Order: sequence, then structure tokens, then C-alpha cells
Amino acid sequence: GARVTRLNVNGEIHEVDLDIRTTLLDALREHIGLTGSKKGCDHGQCGACTILVNGRRINSCLSLAVMHEDDEILTIEGLGKPGKLHPMQQAFLEHDGYQCGYCTPGQIVSAVGMLGEVADGWASHASADINAAPTLSEAEVSERMSGNLCRCSAYPNIVDAIREAAP
Ligand code: FES
Repeated sequence: GARVTRLNVNGEIHEVDLDIRTTLLDALREHIGLTGSKKGCDHGQCGACTILVNGRRINSCLSLAVMHEDDEILTIEGLGKPGKLHPMQQAFLEHDGYQCGYCTPGQIVSAVGMLGEVADGWASHASADINAAPTLSEAEVSERMSGNLCRCSAYPNIVDAIREAAP
């Protein structure tokens, strides 16, 4: 059955009429029009659909939209804007942290959430203090980002970008 579902995405409330089986990823892309979050596998294996829910990263393809009515949802569109990029977006740009770009929104959102996990409180909001994040080794970054696959294998540049954005 369908149901009006109220979602708080990037600080804006959206009321959408959804089949209750609609995933959060499909709700974002097809009902709200935010197509930055990508559908790679639709099975929780690639990370292209990563978003933050209350500051924590999830694979939005694995979660039902109706479960998130009281949550704060942040997508790549909510991180930065052209001309005023989030520091993580800027770092990916400077380090060529992508090739085809399909996994990039998920990589960036995941990296922001990951730094929030290691420096609790940092990075779940675009204005958070980047200097509060600790230094991570290349191996630590790779391990913590292992849920985000890149078929072009741009991993070295992705890791460099994340390490630069996390002083
Ligand atoms: Fe969600 Fe691949 S599309 S993990």
C-alpha cells in the first residue's frame, strides 16, 4: 500500500506518497529528485548509495524510506555547493579521487561519515570543525572505507584525498 511519508533531507522536509516497500535510495532518487546518491548494486555491496542518517553512514538501498520519518538525512547534495564545496569534496577534486565518477558521491559521503565515526561529532554537518578529526594511516583509511567499491580502482587517490581532508 501507499503512504504519505515525511522525510527530512538536507534540512528540507519532503512529503512523498510512497509504496511502503520503497527503499530510501529510490525515494531520494525517484520521488524527491536527488540523484546524487547512485544505485550500483542495489544489494548493499558497493556503497554507491551511501548517505548519512543522523550522522551515521548507511547503504540507502538496504533501508525502507518509511523507517526514516524522524531522522535527519544527509545526501551528497547537502554537503556542499558549487563554489562552496565541503572540504572533502575539495580534497577529492585536488587529488583526482575518481575516474568515471560513479562511485564518487558515495565515497565522499562515506568518508565524511567515517571521519565522524572516528572523531565523534565531526563532519556530520558541513560546518563542523575539520581539525577535530585524528590522523589516519593509509591502511586505516582503506579499512574504514572498504564498504565503498571503485571499479576504476582509483583507491590510491581516494585514500590521499581522505587523508588530506582529515588532518
Ligand atoms: Fe546500495 Fe550498492 S547500491 S550498496
